[in-house]
Amino acid sequence: TSPLRIGIAGLGTVGAGVIRLLETNRELIAARAGRAIEVTAVSARERGKDRGVDISGFAWEDDMTALGSRQDVDVVVELVGGSDGPALTLSRAAFAGGKGLVTANKAMVAHHGLELAKAAEAGGLALKFEAAVAGGIPVVKGLREGTSANQLTKVYGILNGTCNYILTTMEATGADFAETLVEAQALGYAEADPTFDIEGVDAAHKLAILATIGFGVELDFANVVTTGIVAVRAADIAQADALGFVIRLIAEADVQQDADGPKLLQRVRPCLVAKNHPLAPVDGPTNAVVAEGNFSGRLLFQGPGAGDGPTASAVVADIIDIARGDVGAPFSMPIAQLASLGPAQPGGR
Ligand code: NDP
Ligand code: HSE
Repeated sequence: TSPLRIGIAGLGTVGAGVIRLLETNRELIAARAGRAIEVTAVSARERGKDRGVDISGFAWEDDMTALGSRQDVDVVVELVGGSDGPALTLSRAAFAGGKGLVTANKAMVAHHGLELAKAAEAGGLALKFEAAVAGGIPVVKGLREGTSANQLTKVYGILNGTCNYILTTMEATGADFAETLVEAQALGYAEADPTFDIEGVDAAHKLAILATIGFGVELDFANVVTTGIVAVRAADIAQADALGFVIRLIAEADVQQDADGPKLLQRVRPCLVAKNHPLAPVDGPTNAVVAEGNFSGRLLFQGPGAGDGPTASAVVADIIDIARGDVGAPFSMPIAQLASLGPAQPGGR
């Protein structure tokens, strides 16, 4: 069988991690994929930068969009980031060029996921984004495949590793907020713009994606009611502790009845979590997602939510799926069948 040839845009924390993983586990990956996976071309901002991985054997593109039309690329792997700009241009180019797309970019999927999924569907192409939600935890697959027979009532959890690292480090050591954010950035957990992490926007991107998969509704990022952790002080954490709680940034989507019928509520905000709740011991960059289904019962997915290794693990799992011929519906059902949520309402739904 011919190898699956991939072009990677973005060689930062995640991109370098993907190259390292493909190299380290080359034979195991080929055996599981049923064919070799070969990187043929790469692109980033600065060609000469030391990335800790050898890229000398790959073709280099100054303009990443060109990866979408290269003859020697079957699948484009977008690891650049940003909801619009070069990542989106490249993703559109990939589908226009008849290639599958793997991305870790939750901002782009939350804002443009329906457009991209329609383009993928129209071309019979794969769109995969396991790494976009909860890093190394296979929660996109978990909800899309694992709970597909269920009516979900609620999905909630800890979806941002940076915030969880900050809150749990402040809790354990009394460390300062700003200093701990700098550590999270140095460890590769934070977004290029860390305000997305600490203001809850990154968790809101991820929640909107999970809600679409879990509840079969159109992406509705604009209506995720979002509060971050910037106002949480050491004194709040100490007071919560004295009352038997910890503070965690919780993202939650559930269906609630009001006078007009059922409404999907999506919220991200710091919450008091009882110390005996399964989310309380989740610390550092770990993420955890709880999904409640009418037949599955309560499921808990937990694991590393950020960082090069776990995120690369999710990206390469998607690449292996494509190598095996899986071009299944990115959001669990054909796009035309997703329920529309209607016009935006002030203050969220
Ligand atoms: P980094 O900032 O470490 O890497 C980004 C890469 O994209 C760099 O190689 C950079 O080039 C390249 N790049 C950025 N802007 C441009 C541009 N305008 N033109 C060309 N190249 C560009 O980010 P991460 O690896 O951390 O994140 C990548 C994606 O993965 C993002 O969407 C992020 O949200 C997502 N993600 C990240 C996780 C993590 O733990 N870090 C976890 C899950 C998802 P250069 O190196 O030359 O500067
Ligand atoms: N900045 C993100 C986080 C990376 O801290 O969770 C993983 O998506």
